[in-house]
Amino acid sequence: MTNASASPQETARSCLAIVLAAGEGTRMRSGRSKVLHEIANRSMLGHVLAAVQDAGATAVAVVVGPDSEMVAAEATRHADGAEIFVQRERLGTGHAVLMARDALQREENDVIIVYADTPLVSTVTLAQLREPLARGAAVVSLGFEARDPTGYGRLILEDDELVDIREHKDASEAEREITLCNGGLMALRGDVALAILDKIGNANAKGEYYLTDAVAIARQQGHRAAVVVVPEEEVHGVNDRAQLADAERMIQGRLRKAAMVSGVTLVAPETVFFSHDTRLGGDVLVEPHVVFGPGVTVDTGAVIHSFSHLEGAHIAAQAAIGPFARLRPGAEIGVKAKVGNFVEIKNAVVGEGAKVNHLTYVGDAGIGAGANIGAGAITCNYDGFSKYRTEIGQGAFVGSNVSLVAPIRIGAGAFVGSGSVVTEDVPDGALALGRGRQVTKAGWATAFREAALAAKKK
Ligand code: UD1
Ligand code: CA
Repeated sequence: MTNASASPQETARSCLAIVLAAGEGTRMRSGRSKVLHEIANRSMLGHVLAAVQDAGATAVAVVVGPDSEMVAAEATRHADGAEIFVQRERLGTGHAVLMARDALQREENDVIIVYADTPLVSTVTLAQLREPLARGAAVVSLGFEARDPTGYGRLILEDDELVDIREHKDASEAEREITLCNGGLMALRGDVALAILDKIGNANAKGEYYLTDAVAIARQQGHRAAVVVVPEEEVHGVNDRAQLADAERMIQGRLRKAAMVSGVTLVAPETVFFSHDTRLGGDVLVEPHVVFGPGVTVDTGAVIHSFSHLEGAHIAAQAAIGPFARLRPGAEIGVKAKVGNFVEIKNAVVGEGAKVNHLTYVGDAGIGAGANIGAGAITCNYDGFSKYRTEIGQGAFVGSNVSLVAPIRIGAGAFVGSGSVVTEDVPDGALALGRGRQVTKAGWATAFREAALAAKKK
């Protein structure tokens, strides 16, 4: 038995990864294929494809069920050049792997078989799974100590050597006592993989072609089998929405830990939700209850205050976001800029040191460095058909409750008076007022009040 010890370095050996994604996923009760469901904002299939490629796969084959155009499209999106094989009838894991016969015939050095519904498997684990192949093993199983082994294949060891895997349904009472279980993922030596796989039959309790039979067959053919033991979390399978939520919890735990290890402060880690691709610089501070959607990068020393929701945004160093801010795709927040409470920014650049502090919508806009946008200012970017841009120059001052009717340009250093509805460009350094002129009538209120009171007394 080999214990986990490898690092994820790529070896010089070529590697075919076969990803099984032909499951029906009925327990998800979903209109969408199971493996397209997301954790940390990436499909389970996407996670698995990223892991196999990081672990050095030089070729990727994905086995999908019939009518799985969406799954095939997702596969090629995440793995350029992935070959798609269709398994028309679901006859078991051994049968599914053989759908990729054309790829197996090329005899890459290593073959790794992974499940698209087992999304938490890490690059390190996959590298460990490949390791014994380089030392001559023909088959490597991924084992784990199951808290509850019911339903899993049991790893049968003799003198510390893996000799067979027994599926739960086929296991004897004594074998069911074994808690070292098969995680399902497997590695095979490419030069002997087909000779082993072609010998798998279906004479068992389920009448299925069990991939797990590869172990006993390899030994019959004079080869050695090995097992690599990993934590149960690595092989967590997702069959229903509860297990999907468990997977989300586990991956969030990993992402939070990685962020903190890299020098990010999370005041209440369990309340912050990341995407698989969130990038945070050193000394970033994230307050409680912040959600990172896909595509967010935060540079050094920026602060994300509580209850902010960020997606597709870049936040430069020392900037401050929130509390209660919403950054949408294309938000580009400059160095030391401030985006305050109840502010929404979409497809807009907020220049260095600019401030948009309260109750504002900025969409399809550019705000120059050092500009100040007052409370309640709105870029009116949409006429129901098209979107238009607002450009605000450096150092401009836009007063409170201003509507900027795009397309519009406010010049550098210009002022826009509060309450204005601005429909014409404002030159650099100018003042624009676009509001009703105030009328003040001296004594009017006092006279009105006296007259009203007198009328009531009558
Ligand atoms: C399998 C293993 C079992 C292991 C368990 C871990 C076999 C025979 N058994 O059992 O030892 O403990 O995983 O979770 O391999 N699939 C196809 N086509 C098929 C059958 C399966 O693509 O015809 C895919 C499924 O979508 C899934 C994966 O292969 O992603 C595993 O199949 P599943 O039926 O869940 O295997 P288990 O019975 O759980
Ligand atoms: Ca399963």
